[in-house]
Amino acid sequence: MLRLCEAVGLGGADSAEYARTLLALLGSAAGRPLGLPPADTFLSDDHTPVEYSLSFAPGAEPVLRVLLEPGYGAGSLAENGRAGLRAVRGAARRWGFDTMRLDVLEDLFFPADPQGPLALWCALELLPGGVPKVKVYLNPAASGQERSAATVREALRRLGHREAFEALPPGDRHLFFALDLGDWDEPRVKVYLAHDGLSAAEAPGLSRTGAAPERLEIERFFRTASGRGTGGPGGADELLDRRPGLTCHAFTDTETALPGGFTLHVPVRDYARHDGEALDRAVAVLGHHGIDAAPLVRSLAAVTSRRLTDGVGLIAYLGLAHQQGRPPRVNAYISSEAYAVRPPAGPSLRRARAGH
Ligand code: TRP
Repeated sequence: MLRLCEAVGLGGADSAEYARTLLALLGSAAGRPLGLPPADTFLSDDHTPVEYSLSFAPGAEPVLRVLLEPGYGAGSLAENGRAGLRAVRGAARRWGFDTMRLDVLEDLFFPADPQGPLALWCALELLPGGVPKVKVYLNPAASGQERSAATVREALRRLGHREAFEALPPGDRHLFFALDLGDWDEPRVKVYLAHDGLSAAEAPGLSRTGAAPERLEIERFFRTASGRGTGGPGGADELLDRRPGLTCHAFTDTETALPGGFTLHVPVRDYARHDGEALDRAVAVLGHHGIDAAPLVRSLAAVTSRRLTDGVGLIAYLGLAHQQGRPPRVNAYISSEAYAVRPPAGPSLRRARAGH
């Protein structure tokens, strides 16, 4: 964390403060020896309860973020959720924000006998000044996968987004329901959907913001990030068939039904042979948007000393985020690899074709 803060240009005092904050929010997990086997989480592939990301916009320093699971290693999912709520409420007292929007959803996302795959994750945007912006990720399937659509609809309704559910595109699963808490200009409510077998041609049509110009960018991003969708039509290797693509639909305005934001997440780690290839894709995407990739290169070196070609998964996802009235952002998600490095893929993984 300290090295990453340095890689994105945060000062020493902020970096030290954020390192302490990370430990505080992780609670008992922070003291868990790495020699013990990891606890169960799908926050990251190797079950580390922490994942970093950089969010890039043209002409600005990238923002470092960290996603973490405060209830990691709790005895049960119910206890994991309670630890998560305690951590978020503690953060709210510390930084002086209210948790009302989370409180009114508690019965929906924290039933007595919750189902997987998560209870509560929390993300921090580590801005200069030592006070992070806070995001909370909840599980629409907490009361069962079959109830997840109804849970999302009701949660949106309670937050004043009465028609938002109808605006969502079709998807295969509701994966996360996320809230911005604290000092945001426009706090968002976000719904994440998983799309099995997503193609480059379909991806732009999943955006419901109504903004047409972003469509070509989304298609180009899909092709560049995944290396797929670049050959002839119809082949299985044209689709995201190893791990689904995710879309995120962000609602801010309760007056309109349409989301103001759309993000496409491509799980680049399942479509690249090794992280050298994943980084090349990230650099190409950043280049398309006129963004300098140097902070990303520095950040990978801050997290690991291994060669990029010796593993895959250090870059877990690449994301392209469109939010109304702002330039698009490119997000790169960086694994901690505290427990394990996934070996590079064999030759069976089709090479990305040149020329896209
Ligand atoms: N590890 C999970 C996954 O691969 C959840 C997750 C972690 C995720 N970081 C993410 C999903 C970034 C999308 C983007 O799905």
